[in-house]
Amino acid sequence: MEAGERAAALRAEIEEHDYRYYVLDAPVVTDAEYDVLFAELQAIEKEYPGLQTPDSPTRRVGGKPLDLFKPVRHAVPMLSIHTETDFGPEGAFAFDSRVRRELAENIALEYAAELKFDGLAINLRYENGLLVCAATRGDGETGEDVTANARTVGQIPLRLRAALCPEIFEVRGEIYMKRRDFERFNARARARGEKTLSNPRNGAAGSIRQLDSKIAASRPLSFFAYGLGEVKGWAVPESHDGVLAALEEMGFPVCEERAVLCGPAGLADFHRRIGEKRPRLPFDIDGVVYKVNSLFLQRRLGFVSREPRWAVAHKYPPEEAYSEVLGIDIQVGRTGTLTPVAKLAPVLVGGVTVSSATLHNEDEARRKDVRVGDTVVVRRAGDVIPEIVRVVPEKRLASAPGFVMPKTCPVCDSAAARAGDEAATRCTAGLYCPAQRKQALIHFASRRAMDIEGLGEKLIDQLVDSGLVRTPADLYRLDPAELIRLERMAEKSARNLLEAIEKSKQTTLARFIYALGIRNVGETTAKDLAKHFGKLENILVADEDALIRIDEIGPVVAASLLQFLGERHNLEIVERLKESGIVWPENEGESTRGKFSGKTFVLTGTLPTLTRDEAKALIEAAGGRVSGSVSKKTDYVIAGDSPGSKITRANMLGISVLDETQLRFLIAE
Ligand code: IVH
Repeated sequence: MEAGERAAALRAEIEEHDYRYYVLDAPVVTDAEYDVLFAELQAIEKEYPGLQTPDSPTRRVGGKPLDLFKPVRHAVPMLSIHTETDFGPEGAFAFDSRVRRELAENIALEYAAELKFDGLAINLRYENGLLVCAATRGDGETGEDVTANARTVGQIPLRLRAALCPEIFEVRGEIYMKRRDFERFNARARARGEKTLSNPRNGAAGSIRQLDSKIAASRPLSFFAYGLGEVKGWAVPESHDGVLAALEEMGFPVCEERAVLCGPAGLADFHRRIGEKRPRLPFDIDGVVYKVNSLFLQRRLGFVSREPRWAVAHKYPPEEAYSEVLGIDIQVGRTGTLTPVAKLAPVLVGGVTVSSATLHNEDEARRKDVRVGDTVVVRRAGDVIPEIVRVVPEKRLASAPGFVMPKTCPVCDSAAARAGDEAATRCTAGLYCPAQRKQALIHFASRRAMDIEGLGEKLIDQLVDSGLVRTPADLYRLDPAELIRLERMAEKSARNLLEAIEKSKQTTLARFIYALGIRNVGETTAKDLAKHFGKLENILVADEDALIRIDEIGPVVAASLLQFLGERHNLEIVERLKESGIVWPENEGESTRGKFSGKTFVLTGTLPTLTRDEAKALIEAAGGRVSGSVSKKTDYVIAGDSPGSKITRANMLGISVLDETQLRFLIAE
């Protein structure tokens, strides 16, 4: 097939996948398969630039930065909408009576009700089916040309899905950011020490107004269509819901939360129903919109001062409010993370009273520069934990000192530290700190660690809450008489538990190290340590040099380990555990020499007969190690059905990929 034909075929195929993925939310190929098609199209277009079309999906990745946005005069002005600020049902009744008075009608009218998305209005202009211009609302008459950025939004069709395309077709709608996308974007930015977005609306608006479309392409934006602008060569339906249905057919995402209703009571009910659902919606809304459904009646009603008489926005209480910072507390989570939390003067946000807001971590607290006594904007949207959006600097009164992260854990007074380039500050007394007690015990007892059968979360709750157990070492000193006094604890279950604890004393050094729950020391690292050092005593005295000399251990793992060992409380517990009679075979490292010694394997996909654990055990029995991700150090990737991106990476790095049969063959050889 010649390049032009192949490019056209790829474009059609990718376009279909885009539509299925972004609009229908029902993809039929994996990301990896999609990437292959996309890369092929990119390669062809790079070799033959003349073959790139304006609607090519490769344009979605962004292009050259602009110096400024060109102004665009709207063919049909983009109006604003009258707002009904009464949050109660009265809002719906007031709108209905205004409309009926204007029309001099006394019958129940039909309305289209939909959501008021909290994003940025955009006009998409299609000429003969192709997206030629995307413009912001601006002052309603003239907006800015943001076509390059709009193209990067997967949900915006680059071409209409229609056999016969109208000469001119303008679609209006909202560019927005989903809450999860916003949270994820911020979490990543926070971890990298980059600037976070203050809320999804600013995220959407800020992204679409980037002069560099590559930046816009990196932002997770979504789109909903809700109306039309200029249209030529198309038979416009008679009703607003007819328009929305047609838009959906032409490939635009239209929000499913919409209804056609009769009379004001139906509208008020819609407002109430959506209000209840609002916290669980995947995106922010600040109200609902009612529109007279008949386009004929819309025309009869017309406009007053840039607002249509046929539509109204019926709002909800805002999800942002002002409050005052009364203090900054430090909370210690189950995994030992120290989180600064601002205590606030109670305020109503999004219908709920908020009296504290997270500041996430040290960097974030510093960047926002929140101080005691400050007036701040608080945001609580959906089920998300309340956050401080920003400080109002004009209202800062006295010169309160800036935030400093404490050097010790407020719960157990052990040292608190940041590891590597991590944003989180953590308490280093993983085994000792009361805040981390339950978590540490759950991990300690788990199957792959000390494997104490029957000691699950519920029982751990009971043991800790009753004060019988504070650290893992206490498990080996449990008094049967006291155990029996626990609620729901029969003699038999007490005996079973004690037997399981006794049995766990026969273990391996690797399991014991893993059970300590040291950050960044997973099973594989624990095995590497056991194998390399042979004896626990050697690990306890290892310094950084000794640790990073081990091939598989990098500076991050070394730092976590040293932090753990640097905390006296942890060492005391390790000592007590040893004293309680926990034993493992001497020099277990040496027993694992085998033909795979020094070889690293990565497993991906479902193998035909072996489970992941079985495959891992086979490899380890032959002296190999199993790692979670493919890197230059990987020797073999063992792939089963539906493997992930690991295969692509393995191929890129030229690493051998084997299936289960080949693995078995290698072992038996
Ligand atoms: S209709 C003539 N429908 O609200 C009425 N606007 O209009 C034109 N908005 O910034 C607007 N959701 O972006 C309409 N379902 C919806 C909407 C909606 C959000 C925004 C729109 C504009 C503002 C005022």
